[in-house]
Amino acid sequence: MKLTAHERSMANGEQGEAVAAAMAVLIEYGEILGAERLVETNNVSGANIFGPRHSKVLGETDPQALFSRFSLNSDKTLDVPAVRAHSCQLIGPRDAKNWQMQGLSEAENEEITKSEEYLASIGVSLLSTCTPYQVGNNPIKGEHCAWMESSAVVYINSVLGARTNTEGRESTAAAMLTGRIPYAGLHLEENRRATHEVRIERPVDSTFDWNVLGYFLGAVLDDGIPVITGGELDPEPVDLKQLGAAAASSGDIEMYHIPGITPEAATREQALGGRQPEEVIVFGQHEFDDTVRRLNATASGDDIDFVMIGCPHASLSQVREVAALLEGRTVHPSTRLWLFTPSALREVAVRSGYVDTIERAGGKVMADTCPAIAQFLPKGTRSFATDSAKQVHYLPAIMGVSGNFGTTRQCVEAAVTGRWVTA
Ligand code: F3S
Repeated sequence: MKLTAHERSMANGEQGEAVAAAMAVLIEYGEILGAERLVETNNVSGANIFGPRHSKVLGETDPQALFSRFSLNSDKTLDVPAVRAHSCQLIGPRDAKNWQMQGLSEAENEEITKSEEYLASIGVSLLSTCTPYQVGNNPIKGEHCAWMESSAVVYINSVLGARTNTEGRESTAAAMLTGRIPYAGLHLEENRRATHEVRIERPVDSTFDWNVLGYFLGAVLDDGIPVITGGELDPEPVDLKQLGAAAASSGDIEMYHIPGITPEAATREQALGGRQPEEVIVFGQHEFDDTVRRLNATASGDDIDFVMIGCPHASLSQVREVAALLEGRTVHPSTRLWLFTPSALREVAVRSGYVDTIERAGGKVMADTCPAIAQFLPKGTRSFATDSAKQVHYLPAIMGVSGNFGTTRQCVEAAVTGRWVTA
């Protein structure tokens, strides 16, 4: 791999051992990807908060030792300097206000706090969400980024036109310290063209529909890039958030185009870069129904113990919608309703009165974490309901519960009645 003089000085250790370790990670990773060089980045989003699960493995709770081991692949505790690129922390393992509800002990909570403080001390912004683009991190078209979290990756590639591959903890930590990432994959113009055309032949109007379409795309295309044509598509940002998350769950989709809506596809032809699609796939009523059936594959019985809203982290409009649906009602005594959002948005939802409405009804608005990432559920949960295709894909596998997927209205009805009612 060709390195600039500055990159060579970082790799040689002239800028400290931690930066040299970061360069070693990037060079090895870049060579695996077949990258000929690195590219500058000033927007990195990674996950480097460590808690009890990591310290048990290392037998050590010092955040710098944990960062050196798990983020920089070094057995030695390195002297980590301030980050060089603008960097933010993704979703973490804990809600700082509601950690007891997650079943964490005081010692575990303190350990996570120490890890957060350490990251802040080296200059990482603690956005603590899987949706950094909802709380102020909005890269511009063409900007080279290094982001983790598959749903965020597909959002910024597709909706914002920024460029990132799906990075990992080590590559984002290395990018934070060096301001570099391998120039490969979706950083290159030629790899961003649509490979397949997906023709819409039934209405895709609601957020529920966009979840279903996303799940279908991932399942049929795996890691292709679809251009979505046909239909009268008029998505809102929340619809595209759900679409990408679902597509990156059932498959490895990192990017899609919608002519006239996403920034690199003024037309179908532009999305395809003048080529023919490898395949034209139809999304009609049959495909829709079949996908909904697959999303509900683990559903069993009608009793619902837990309703989860906010995967990816809920937008303000989603929190407001739940508040409106709950107004004057009460969550069933045997069911829990928890929403998940970034704490920056929870703050606005508190000021706007949405949190009060939800919590007066017996629900809870939690922040900065989620059940799938942090592996927690309300005690005794056997069956849950969600309006997120991604969450119903992962939570049954991670936590061994059964899952119902439906509209937000259906989920709120389940929370109020304790029962699942088919739409
Ligand atoms: Fe975010 Fe957790 Fe869903 S990380 S995308 S809320 S599984």
